[in-house]
Amino acid sequence: IDELLAEGVVGKRVFVRADLNVPLAGTEITDDGRIRAVQPTIAKLAEAGARVIVASHLGRPKGAPDPAFSLAPAAKRLGELLGSDVAFATDTVGSSAKETVAALADGQVAVIENLRFNAGETSKDDAERGAFADQLAELADLYVGDGFGAVHRKHASVFDLPARLPHAAGYLIATEVGVLKKLTAEVKRPYVVVLGGAKVSDKLAVIDQLLGKADRILIGGGMAYTFLYAKGYEVGISLLQKDQVDVVKEYMARAEKNGVELVLPVDILASSEFPDLKGKTPADFITVDADKIPADKEGLDIGPKTRELYASKIADAETVFWNGPVGVFEHPDYAGGTSAIAQALVDSNAFTVVGGGDSAAAVRTLGFDENAFGHISTGGGASLEYLEGKTLPGLAALEV
Ligand code: 3PG
Repeated sequence: IDELLAEGVVGKRVFVRADLNVPLAGTEITDDGRIRAVQPTIAKLAEAGARVIVASHLGRPKGAPDPAFSLAPAAKRLGELLGSDVAFATDTVGSSAKETVAALADGQVAVIENLRFNAGETSKDDAERGAFADQLAELADLYVGDGFGAVHRKHASVFDLPARLPHAAGYLIATEVGVLKKLTAEVKRPYVVVLGGAKVSDKLAVIDQLLGKADRILIGGGMAYTFLYAKGYEVGISLLQKDQVDVVKEYMARAEKNGVELVLPVDILASSEFPDLKGKTPADFITVDADKIPADKEGLDIGPKTRELYASKIADAETVFWNGPVGVFEHPDYAGGTSAIAQALVDSNAFTVVGGGDSAAAVRTLGFDENAFGHISTGGGASLEYLEGKTLPGLAALEV
């Protein structure tokens, strides 16, 4: 982007592909981290006199307009952060977008409506995606890719559009890639990885890679129960992916062979019901050893012994990567495990990286200071796929 800026962008229409996919409660943004993360790129372009067109997806609408997924709240928040009026187009490539862009003065910013209101954005068909990218290209003179959270998606605005315009990567992508490179190249040891989240199937590829890289892998969240089951424990009605048990067994064997410590919860908070997240009524749970989850109960957080154990495994680390909450942190009674992991990262002297929308949001909503961490990534799937060693379409398109 610095090269683009050096060449001069005054009066140029610059399309910024951001990731403004923020969590919403109705029209309230509950965590604006992703908007703040891309703000420097947008502010710099505006200061330099560009006419900035900010585009993003939000949620997973079905290729047609859906008010529940409007980017209007994100546009409003962006305006507040920039301290300037941000125009908003109520469509993406239609008359509102064209008029809004045509009306932009030098240094002004507009947000266009959710890219995924158009089927072409996410289409698997190259021609359909290309046709939508052609329409987007008409809006702009230059392209800046800065939606790190979406670079693993082969979507029109991420992959096809940069091929149609002079392009560059923004500051956020540069920072994110710089940090993740450190985790793949000369990582400082002990290298400890904490993996949580609901589904083990989402994490298999990264575990596969990490078994040749990490010194310790600490497992929590819904995915832990498939590991505990693979170890021969009964897990009651906990989340379980039976079809992944054989893969998990193979990973446990490989960890042992490679000298990687694969650490599983030793105790669990378990309940016969999933907590009411809206009303936040007190949760009704018991604390049990991980091999004694009753048949009618499901595990919802790691227990106190596990919190201590995991903190001790993090304490002497030089590098920590954490992806995924280790419990149902949205309910205060099941937030203790996730809080303990965040605290252990804060207390360690390691270079700490928090990856993933959920863990990043958890860290902030649980009241931690984001500056206490080495880096909080805006990408969940994107950072995992980077660590898996995959080629990410949105980075390849920018030659990053
Ligand atoms: C994310 O939240 O991880 C990114 O915004 C990508 O969203 P997606 O998984 O719906 O493509």
